Amino acid sequence: MADVKIAPSVLASDFGKLAEEIRAVDQAGCDWIHLDVMDGHFVPNLTFGPPIIQAVRGASEKIFDAHLMVSNPDRLLETYQKAGADIITVHAEVCDHLDRTLSQIRELGCRAGVSLNPHTSEDCLRYVLDRVDLVLVMSVNPGFGGQSFIPTVVEKIARIREMLDGRDVDIEVDGGITPETAPAVVAAGATALVAGSAVFKGGSVDSYRQNIQAIRDSVKDL
Ligand code: DX5
Ligand code: ZN
Repeated sequence: MADVKIAPSVLASDFGKLAEEIRAVDQAGCDWIHLDVMDGHFVPNLTFGPPIIQAVRGASEKIFDAHLMVSNPDRLLETYQKAGADIITVHAEVCDHLDRTLSQIRELGCRAGVSLNPHTSEDCLRYVLDRVDLVLVMSVNPGFGGQSFIPTVVEKIARIREMLDGRDVDIEVDGGITPETAPAVVAAGATALVAGSAVFKGGSVDSYRQNIQAIRDSVKDL
């Protein structure tokens, strides 16, 4: 599977030199930059928001993939777009008006993503399939990096791919992705892989390049 996108999650990077870390994974050959926005409410952890995204936007021209783990995403959609997000992904669990939220993201000129926690059924996607550009399947409970992959999501990915019925929609998988876990999710239909700890280890462009390549190699024959 040649065209699987690798999206390093900066959550596992050194926040003290965030722009440099983004430059490093860019040079190491990643496809997207995955930005985990956490509000300390929807998830029990707090990271960064639009001002930081804007501050590091100049570090890479690659796609900025903003994963909003926040309770009220609607309030700030435009602010994330102005800060430089190319993909804006919201959690289905917090959107009372998911159809409207996804439409608004597209109206801003961004790609619209919807994320599902490990326990959330794919049923909530059924009537928004034509409004969505990306489905982000959480393979850990969101909030922290370095957790173990939850294998039951493989079946969910396959069901979503079937439900998409040939639509050109990315399925991105997030949490516990390594060269060991990647093949099963790609075989089930994933087209983009988020990896935090598996990419940001070694602390240099060369090690990031090897880490990204190891994930690519693990899925190349599928
Ligand atoms: C978890 C985040 C993930 C996380 C992935 O809430 O959404 O993006 O950083 O980290 P790893 O790859 O270490 O599981
Ligand atoms: Zn994420």
